[in-house]
Amino acid sequence: MYLATALLVTYGLSEAVSAFKLPFHLPWVSATSNDEQVPLALPPQDHTPRIAIVGAGAGGSSAAFWISKAKERYGLDVEVDIFDSNSYVGGRSTTVQPYDDPELDPIELGASIFVKINKNMWRASEEFGFERVDFDDSDDTLGIWDGSKFVLTSKLGGWWDTVRVIWRYGYKAPTRTKSMVENMMKDFTTLYTPLTGSSPWSNITALTYQLEWTDVVSQSTMDYFDSQGIDSRWTREMIEAATRVNYGQNIDQIHALEGMCSLAATGASQIKGGNWKIFEQFVKRSQANVFLNTTVKSIAEQDGKYFLRAQSKGPHFMERNYNAVIIAAPFHSAEIDLSLTSAAPVIPPQPYVHLHVTLLSTPNPHPRTRFFGLGEKDKVPTTVLTTWEGVRQGEENPAPEFNSLSYHGSLKFRNGTIANTSASGEPEYSVKIFSKQKLEDSYLRKAFGKIGWVHRKEWDAYPILPPTTSFPPVKLAKGLYYVNSFEPFISTMETETISARNAVELLMRDQFNASICKSEPAPEGVKPSDDKEEDFIYGWDC
Ligand SMILES: Cc1cc2nc3c(=O)[nH]c(=O)nc-3n(C[C@H](O)[C@H](O)[C@H](O)COP(=O)(O)OP(=O)(O)OC[C@H]3O[C@@H](n4cnc5c(N)ncnc54)[C@H](O)[C@@H]3O)c2cc1C
Ligand SMILES: *[C@@H]1O[C@H](CO)[C@@H](O)[C@H](O)[C@H]1NC(C)=O
Ligand SMILES: *[C@@H]1O[C@H](CO)[C@@H](O)[C@H](O)[C@H]1NC(C)=O
Ligand SMILES: *[C@@H]1O[C@H](CO)[C@@H](O)[C@H](O)[C@H]1NC(C)=O
Ligand SMILES: *[C@@H]1O[C@H](CO)[C@@H](O)[C@H](O)[C@H]1NC(C)=O
Ligand SMILES: *[C@@H]1O[C@H](CO)[C@@H](O)[C@H](O)[C@H]1NC(C)=O
Repeated sequence: MYLATALLVTYGLSEAVSAFKLPFHLPWVSATSNDEQVPLALPPQDHTPRIAIVGAGAGGSSAAFWISKAKERYGLDVEVDIFDSNSYVGGRSTTVQPYDDPELDPIELGASIFVKINKNMWRASEEFGFERVDFDDSDDTLGIWDGSKFVLTSKLGGWWDTVRVIWRYGYKAPTRTKSMVENMMKDFTTLYTPLTGSSPWSNITALTYQLEWTDVVSQSTMDYFDSQGIDSRWTREMIEAATRVNYGQNIDQIHALEGMCSLAATGASQIKGGNWKIFEQFVKRSQANVFLNTTVKSIAEQDGKYFLRAQSKGPHFMERNYNAVIIAAPFHSAEIDLSLTSAAPVIPPQPYVHLHVTLLSTPNPHPRTRFFGLGEKDKVPTTVLTTWEGVRQGEENPAPEFNSLSYHGSLKFRNGTIANTSASGEPEYSVKIFSKQKLEDSYLRKAFGKIGWVHRKEWDAYPILPPTTSFPPVKLAKGLYYVNSFEPFISTMETETISARNAVELLMRDQFNASICKSEPAPEGVKPSDDKEEDFIYGWDC
């Protein structure tokens, strides 16, 4: 019945749709003032198989991209619909404009950096022609703050082997840590080989065995590094500074795999204009239909298909049948009713770190000396990371009031010219602070003196990641897949694209007798050179 109505309403909409000027097809018309529930205009459903993707972040957008690769290579006829409650593509990867000024260079509000071994992100930025900018290659000063004093200050770039670091922690701790992280990264790159790509995992515990990471995910970062004989002060200060800035968790709380991932940030890059540009391209190139401002409410099994119901911000709702559904959002906060599927109770509760991100501008080139109890002449670090060690040493010691505080250069126009943004027409620096609590303006003034623009955002940023060997299921039921099952293992933009590739690989095998890549045996006698093998990325190069 809805579909008949839908067809009538569809006429004459194409102009309105193109007026949005979004880079992808948007089969949607913004809501009217009518309070009644109105079905969304959709063309009648034909026999073309359809896949729904819930979430248009790193996971959902890349899932659409991987499906389009399979379609292309197998000549499949499949329609894909992507839903997101937000008004934008990118999820936890999004930017804001300082002072709401579109001429200024935007600032990352969520996920900021990726590294070269994040092969999908890296390759996407190359193929899509996006400029990468180095993150923090400056001579700025790094300080590690314990709530009442700096336990260390050092140069920011290449801090591993600065004199002060070696003086405090010895030579062995940094070099051993470096080689442990490098070994982990080497294992990580096997996730891009044809072998791993074409034998998808249906269970992350099994993947943990395969990568021989059981030892690291089942221990806390503190226990693991202590058991490896690493200098305990190094672990409690330096490594904890990394786990606290990257995952908002202390070394006795977070598992050692994610602890090591926090340390694998050398050579970090971001996309000029915003990392979300990659995810927007994934969506655009996939030619999927995108329904923004649209929340998926329920999925029910019906005659071997999934009947999905979604609600727009306005009065529109939408119902459609799908052959398969990919959930690419943290399940519990997505609040999707799965009670009418066989998947219902299988995803264990997963708490997330509730993080306050505060972005601000200030004309002061560093925080005030007094704020950190320093003398007027002391140099104040412009990147302040934190350790919980003060509190562990004595409950009466003050806890750091933030997880991290960092200067990110001057506010600039998009063309790179420094902008004079302050009220009195001077240039300003941008600062990013992560904390567990809201930081009031009065606190910010205490820290920086003058402040200009302030932007606050609360995220459920990443899972709380205790040591474990049990993970959420990848496949919830026949034709129903869960991308964010990977997050309690590793939570990054890149790993969500890997998890999405795995989900799509499973889906293609289960439902279409297809795959992301055509498996053609290599011609007799031709062996790829080592060089080629290193560059190879399953899904891109097949
Ligand atoms: C402050 C911060 C800093 C970070 N720093 C980094 C970093 O430097 N590098 C890095 O790699 N990672 C970083 N991360 C982690 C990274 O953001 C995530 O791991 C990754 O972006 C998750 O992508 P996703 O697509 O799985 O989920 P999300 O990006 O959360 O996307 C899920 C989408 O689903 C939508 N959704 C939810 N429920 C529904 C529903 N019922 N119906 C429709 N849509 C729904 C949401 O609106 C959302 O857009 C950071 C995260 C935060 C918050
Ligand atoms: C989504 O909703 C916001 C208002 O909440 C609106 O400004 C925006 O245009 C909508 N976007 C789309 C694509 O419908
Ligand atoms: C996951 O894999 C492990 C190891 O192969 C196995 O013991 C376990 O039963 C699997 N769990 C599920 C839910 O399939
Ligand atoms: C850079 O952009 C700003 C604002 O858009 C403009 O005022 C300025 O003239 C530009 N500078 C150069 C060198 O192009
Ligand atoms: C900013 O101010 C300085 C001097 O105060 C001036 O030289 C410069 O041109 C200004 N820059 C812009 C982009 O207006
Ligand atoms: C699946 O595809 C392969 C070729 O890729 C074909 O040989 C096989 O017959 C197909 N199986 C089914 C059940 O369609």
